[in-house]
Amino acid sequence: MSTSDSDEDAAASGTGLRPRLTVIGTGYLGATHAVCMAELGFEVLAVDVDHSKISRLSAGEIPFFEPDLADLLRANLATGRLRFTTSFEEIAEFGDVHFVCVGTPQRPDGYGADLSHLNAAIERLAPMLTRPCLVVGKSTVPAGTAAGIARALARLAPANHSAAATADAGADAETDADIVPDLAGVQLAWNPEFLREGFAVADTLHPDRLVFGVASPAAEGALRAAFAPVIAQGVPVIVTDYATAELVKTAANSFLATKISFINAMAEVCEAVDADVLTLAEALSHDVRIGGNFLRPGVGFGGGCLPKDIRAFQARADELGVGVALRFLREIDEINNRRRDRVVDLVSAALDGTLAHRRLLVLGAAFKPNSDDVRDSPALAVADLLARTGADVTVVDPVATPNARRALPGVTYSETVEDVAADADAVVLLTEWRQFAELDPARLGQLVRRKLVIDARHALDGDRWRQAGWVYLAPGRPTGVIPSPVPEQRPRFGLPAATGPDAAARDAEIEAPVGRRS
Ligand code: UGA
Repeated sequence: MSTSDSDEDAAASGTGLRPRLTVIGTGYLGATHAVCMAELGFEVLAVDVDHSKISRLSAGEIPFFEPDLADLLRANLATGRLRFTTSFEEIAEFGDVHFVCVGTPQRPDGYGADLSHLNAAIERLAPMLTRPCLVVGKSTVPAGTAAGIARALARLAPANHSAAATADAGADAETDADIVPDLAGVQLAWNPEFLREGFAVADTLHPDRLVFGVASPAAEGALRAAFAPVIAQGVPVIVTDYATAELVKTAANSFLATKISFINAMAEVCEAVDADVLTLAEALSHDVRIGGNFLRPGVGFGGGCLPKDIRAFQARADELGVGVALRFLREIDEINNRRRDRVVDLVSAALDGTLAHRRLLVLGAAFKPNSDDVRDSPALAVADLLARTGADVTVVDPVATPNARRALPGVTYSETVEDVAADADAVVLLTEWRQFAELDPARLGQLVRRKLVIDARHALDGDRWRQAGWVYLAPGRPTGVIPSPVPEQRPRFGLPAATGPDAAARDAEIEAPVGRRS
């Protein structure tokens, strides 16, 4: 594969040869990647062992909530560029570049990453790779994983040890030789993904950087061809080795988690002196060295990525004998978990210390707005903590209710606020959906028993709510209600990270042996 600018330009302009792409695993990452690569003009074939998921995707239905993705799916199915299958034989035959997008969730028995789905996918695919091609890992993995997978491909892929198999690969061989001319056998690249839920389409079509972990110029060339339309936008490409590429992803998520926990630690201090963390964050953000992104205090981070990635990073550092370097991530995790307790404390303090039998209206179940993902969701964890105190909890979420019901069955659910607001003793906002920010406090005030709102995400206009007669409280802001300090070793009775509301819902994106979202 040539890496020359002219080749890239040719591919980008649609006149050059484009590699045929496959995507292994059609969970959140894989489905988005498949749809967006087809949108960029590639022929894409995506595989999953979950027949029902493949049927739904083939019928133009996205099995999870992600803005804009369903329209793009249907448009690209209509062009014929995008197809789905359950046959690994078919993708092995079809693909020049195979993107592996299976999940690497937290292990149920510890902090490390569960690589069983990834290993299973490679073991299934590799023996079918009889001609030169590039396998590209996109899953988030512990440093050192890619090197092991490269060794497995060298061992298992017929194209890597059988010249005859390569020569006999069939009529496509001539075309493939043009598309991946320098790839001797099957090679591996690592290309971490940085997309955010809720912005997955834009992040994939217009990423802020591409990271290519490669072991040869040929692999780099094949990857450049697979991303030619993106590279043509001027997106920076960082070419490096496997381990650095793997580390870029875990370092990025760890840095983001650290920023969030930093501002939440400031919120704790603000609470102790009745200072205002929002003003503090704003003042910090004007320093361009600090910046304002990911400095939004509240109930902390959740989801299927940040929590498990910082834990897996610590576990890997321990294995490598450099655990001390990442010891701070344990504190980041602790600060994050403490926010959930602090919100419960704030609700309790505002209700005179009694939560049992109180009717609480919880706004939000998703780990963040524009998502139906409830994996390690701070909102659901707080709802669970409140329910365990004996409170009567009703959770409202515009899209995450079905997943939340499965993950936390012990509370009541609704999709609209008005239907369930009657007799509420407090409204607790935990996910900052736009619909909640736009609620009319005067109208809601006529329905509830007590006009008390706890805005754990700082999403509401406090002045407006106060003017409508509400007591408005938000963590880290002057409240006049200072919760008693959290004991350092407070027992955690919330949702355990690896087994909480993450479990069944959309994390079952692809059934074993091929796994979940990275
Ligand atoms: C995160 C990263 O942002 C992506 O770059 C990465 O690709 C992805 O993980 C992944 O590893 O796949 P995501 O999990 O979609 O993306 O969500 P974020 O937007 O990062 O938010 C994570 C959590 O932090 C949410 O619960 C959010 O509410 C919280 N958050 C975010 C804050 O509490 N404060 C902030 O200022 C920002």
